[in-house]
Amino acid sequence: MIEIIRQCFREHFAGDGILYAAPGRVNLIGEHTDYNLGFVLPGAIDKSFYMVIAPNGTQLCNLFSIHFDAMVSFSIDETALPEALWSRYVFGEIKELQALGCKVGGFNAVVASDIPIGAGISSSAAFTSVTGIALNDLFDLKLSKMELAKAGQMCEHHYVGVRCGIMDQFASLHGREATLMRLDCRSLDYEYIPFAPDGLSLLLLDTQVKHSLASSEYNLRRADCEAGVAQLRQRYPSIESLRDVSLEVLEAHRSELSPVVYNRCSFVVEENERLLRACRALEEGDYALCGAQMYGSHEGLSKKYEVSCPELDYLQGIAQNYPGMLGARMMGGGFGGCTINLLQEDAVDEFIEFCGNSFSKKFWKELRPIKVRIGKGAGIIV
Ligand code: GLA
Repeated sequence: MIEIIRQCFREHFAGDGILYAAPGRVNLIGEHTDYNLGFVLPGAIDKSFYMVIAPNGTQLCNLFSIHFDAMVSFSIDETALPEALWSRYVFGEIKELQALGCKVGGFNAVVASDIPIGAGISSSAAFTSVTGIALNDLFDLKLSKMELAKAGQMCEHHYVGVRCGIMDQFASLHGREATLMRLDCRSLDYEYIPFAPDGLSLLLLDTQVKHSLASSEYNLRRADCEAGVAQLRQRYPSIESLRDVSLEVLEAHRSELSPVVYNRCSFVVEENERLLRACRALEEGDYALCGAQMYGSHEGLSKKYEVSCPELDYLQGIAQNYPGMLGARMMGGGFGGCTINLLQEDAVDEFIEFCGNSFSKKFWKELRPIKVRIGKGAGIIV
């Protein structure tokens, strides 16, 4: 990949560029909690978005995508969105950096990725992150990784239309080898948690289902949570987000919320508690207890938050009863994408075969297994 992208840069633009990479992410537990200012537990993975880039001394940004085999050019001061959807991640990231007062110059760049698209492992956050880290470096913008994460998140809000939380961009920029990160999405404090369980592996099973309503449903879930907060705040003015709501308070005022809003809020409050239990279990090396929280997370995502789909539920059901499995759940925003499975290393290949066969018999589709390692965060590649 690295050689191909360097070579492609030479073919389209004279000379060599500098190579940057930003990874996708997994999230062990803590789903739909980030925009509710709760906790998440992601890690960067060994699959990345790559960008070879060089300033060109003009006002023009020339961007070539290997995946789309297409070139897009726009002026650095352009305000109209480029037509090609993929290029809006770069365009939007530049606009967000400019909104922070940063001076970005023109450049030539080639982008490529080995992150499966639509699998829910944050290829889009990796795209804005690689753009952010490269421009920060080349134009000496002096932004911190957290500032870049926020810019990437705002790019999604303003230029893609998804009101996402900060987990994906944070994870892509801050990741470390064999380490998960517990991020408090309210204070933005985070803690590195070593994660290299002996004899265990993380395996993603991609349903290859991409729900066309995923982003509108995502925004609706966020609105349901906000409606719950607004309602509870009438009683408790100090409540600013679901992070400030306890199960007791929620139960006490259940009848004041619509059943849907109650379910959404209850999932989020419980998910934060499951995450904290999972972190304690990890500290004690109790992977079975950690896995039990993952099972609970799936149940809530499917029944209360309603962001699963038949394919994800089916795979999770198989996993939960499989020998050697410790924990499994759907991962990411939902409505498709993949499950994350924590299982014994020596059970991985048989499990893949078993799931692949029964999945294709049931759904007439191919299952895509993705073996992942927790890798490092975004940066330059020399
Ligand atoms: C997507 C969003 C994240 C987060 C997850 C769900 O990946 O980009 O901010 O909300 O869904 O946990």
